[in-house]
Amino acid sequence: MSVNRRGALKMAGAAAVVLAAGGGAFILTRQPTRATAPWRAAGRVDSDPRLKALSYAILAPNPHNRQPWLVDLRTAGELTLYCDAERLLPVTDPESRQIVIGLGCFLELLRMAAAEDGYAADIAPFPEGVPAAHVGEKPIARVRFQRAAAVDKDPLFAHVLERRSNKEPYDRARQVGEAVLANLANAAGGRLAVETTNEPGRVADLRDLTWRAMETELTTRQAYMESVHLMRIGKAEIEASPDGIDLGGPFLETLSLLGMLSREALSDPATTAFRQGLDMFREITGSAMAFVWIKTGGNDRVTQLAVGRAWVRVNLKAAQLGLGIHPLSQALQEYAEVRPHFAAVHGMLAAGGGHRVQILGRLGYGPEVGPSPRWPIETRIMDI
Ligand SMILES: Cc1cc2nc3c(=O)[nH]c(=O)nc-3n(C[C@H](O)[C@H](O)[C@H](O)COP(=O)(O)O)c2cc1C
Repeated sequence: MSVNRRGALKMAGAAAVVLAAGGGAFILTRQPTRATAPWRAAGRVDSDPRLKALSYAILAPNPHNRQPWLVDLRTAGELTLYCDAERLLPVTDPESRQIVIGLGCFLELLRMAAAEDGYAADIAPFPEGVPAAHVGEKPIARVRFQRAAAVDKDPLFAHVLERRSNKEPYDRARQVGEAVLANLANAAGGRLAVETTNEPGRVADLRDLTWRAMETELTTRQAYMESVHLMRIGKAEIEASPDGIDLGGPFLETLSLLGMLSREALSDPATTAFRQGLDMFREITGSAMAFVWIKTGGNDRVTQLAVGRAWVRVNLKAAQLGLGIHPLSQALQEYAEVRPHFAAVHGMLAAGGGHRVQILGRLGYGPEVGPSPRWPIETRIMDI
């Protein structure tokens, strides 16, 4: 499909007419309620404290919403976490660094949920050795659950169900103040270097850098196609595979039903759908009002897990503060085409110290967004 600008306006117009005619009923029926059911089911498990904690841990942020966690519950009182080798991102995350960060997010939520339930979750990372390349073979962590009278509850746990990665444009008229940034940086408990900026010159440079890295990714065929294959367009696809990049909601669903939004159109750089995607990302990166990032001295697997544990805490604090937060990882990735952006972002944020920037996110105040899809817990338990 190749449509010019007038065609694009027609597309939007047609969708608006269909929405106005079908209206509320259509909108109500197109919500992927089954795909978001795990958010409503969290905590409603009485049988086993490990399952109860798991029902929250699966709500963790993770790259491309791959949900790479798999758990073995065969030993009583223990949960062994594995990484599902089918759920890696070989092109954009060739070292599985981001996947491991996502598993760190999972472990921190697991620990917090256990504590809330009166259990100390003792986490031993990589109990059978640290995997260098293949993260899918040996366990990522072994977690022992022990009933404990005096386990500290974590105040951030109250925000698990409202935590989001908010990918919408943010309000350019609303600044993110110093006190908010300090609060955010403290959420990780000082264990890792969480840094922020709202300084206009640096924000402008980072807006530009994140946009250029995004443009490189979208125009690097292999990298972009990895995302296209993970797109779930419309309710039926999202319900069938509640993971990946969900393109739902009444507007996109209508375009898709009208045949104006498809995986084929999105994968062809000559189409309006593709160009509109680029414009959309430019608007999104351009509306960043501040940035937050975590950098580390090393880049080993244990450090990557610690980054995830810190990131989810920052994300939960953002939820508490009503602040939008959105990771933009393209410049931090390890494939050849993004190397110039990798050098630029490290020059900006980690100059001189030999540090590695592990995750970078934009901040601002955006519209409220709903929860992202999740596979239910029973699909994440290993059937051995
Ligand atoms: C290590 C890591 C990297 C991520 N990178 C990006 C990114 O580059 N762009 C993006 O839109 N979201 C990114 N995300 C956010 C995920 O897409 C998001 O967590 C996932 O879709 C689930 O949505 P939720 O966080 O709202 O539950 C990243 C998340 C993690 C943990």
